[in-house]
Amino acid sequence: MKTQILMVSLLTLGLGSAVWAEDAAKTELAKIEESATAAKDADKPADVVAAKDEPIKPIEAAEVKDPAMVELGKKLYFDPRLSKSGFISCNSCHNLSMGGTDNLPTSIGDHWQQGPINAPTVLNSSMNVAQFWDGRAKDLKEQAGGPIANPGEMAFTHELALDVLQSIPQYKDEFKSVFGKDEMDIGMVTDAIAAFEETLVTPDSKFDQWLKGDSKALADNELAGYKLFKESGCVACHNGPAVGGNSFQKMGVVEPYKTDSKAEGMAGLTKKDEDRFKFKVPTLRNVEMTYPYFHDGAAKTLEQAVTTMGQLQLGKKFTDAETADIVAFLKTLTGKQPELQLPILPPSTNDTPVPEPFNKADMEKAKQKDAAAKTDGKQS
Ligand code: HEC
Ligand code: HEC
Repeated sequence: MKTQILMVSLLTLGLGSAVWAEDAAKTELAKIEESATAAKDADKPADVVAAKDEPIKPIEAAEVKDPAMVELGKKLYFDPRLSKSGFISCNSCHNLSMGGTDNLPTSIGDHWQQGPINAPTVLNSSMNVAQFWDGRAKDLKEQAGGPIANPGEMAFTHELALDVLQSIPQYKDEFKSVFGKDEMDIGMVTDAIAAFEETLVTPDSKFDQWLKGDSKALADNELAGYKLFKESGCVACHNGPAVGGNSFQKMGVVEPYKTDSKAEGMAGLTKKDEDRFKFKVPTLRNVEMTYPYFHDGAAKTLEQAVTTMGQLQLGKKFTDAETADIVAFLKTLTGKQPELQLPILPPSTNDTPVPEPFNKADMEKAKQKDAAAKTDGKQS
């Protein structure tokens, strides 16, 4: 995986012209594939080794290591009492009935605050090299603490969230049996949520069936779309099992991207000019379900996203028929969605802090914070 990321960044760092990008994509890709396959074959089950030698790899079903922790994490993921309003859960913005997103350009947070950036899917997010568009959280555990305490999202504090959980005996018992300790802490909350998120993978898409040898799994137009995707150079950035998620790349390699969004990508963290507009390459798994597209949610349709990518990243103008083929291919990346039984949450008790969704002072504060959040273009 490391070699792959390195190759891809080497490839795009020096992108002077689209032609160069295409040729380089072809030769570099051969190397990427070679090293990636060699590195992976050693420790993978037989069916993966047998999968076609392509820059995109099949997704494997999740291995559940600790079912009790996953079950607890699922409850927390769906529990709106981790928000100040008592109304917003992780699932509000990463709705598992809708591809792990909210299908909005930018999310709605506490007191109807408008979020500054598009909510990425949580599906297959365990495969990401880091979390968030700018990679500021190193993994799912580090990420999961963010939204609870983010004033623009769930607007709570970790202490208050723990007060809520501790006031509910069924939660206390469950934490105790999973972690073996009487006192719960926020690290346990984020561990459990991350363990649940690790199970949210989507194997067995049509494309994976094809990769694994079912030559009839793809129709001619879908196969033609994949060929274009590969040969035009899309795979230079969108590759691996998640078809992205494994590198940070500039949005607007050949032509600049025009947007009203204030998000600056990695430059917001590193303050380096060369990191301006560098975003984590989104996964294209289930992309049919995760509209609208891009960090600002500005592309409403897949056709629009593909057209923009061709022009801005590769200097290519696809015909309508070519675009349609690529879109048809992208739709074959929709995998088997996690089958979840809706968790029934333990009821609050007389001691559970009562949510205050319409607190006037909070509404005023939220307005100010909303304005501030819009200027720094970040959300957790
Ligand atoms: C109000 C909407 C909202 C809520 C509630 C919310 N998120 Fe998010 N989430 C977002 C947005 C927006 C981003 C992207 C922020 C960024 O990159 O700056 C994000 C990013 C993420 C990511 C990173 C995905 C990636 O590809 O980088 C994960 C994982 C995630 N959220 C999980 C959670 C979990 C777990 C919870 C509950 C504890 C949660 N979110 C609550 C809106 C929300
Ligand atoms: C130089 C690297 C690079 C290349 C080449 C590239 N992409 Fe992307 N792609 C990205 C980045 C970075 C983003 C996120 C941009 C943003 O949100 O501002 C993205 C976003 C997308 C999205 C939107 C996903 C979402 O969830 O928002 C689609 C669809 C997509 N690319 C398809 C393609 C196709 C099709 C091609 C080939 C025509 C392609 N990409 C070529 C880096 C690349």
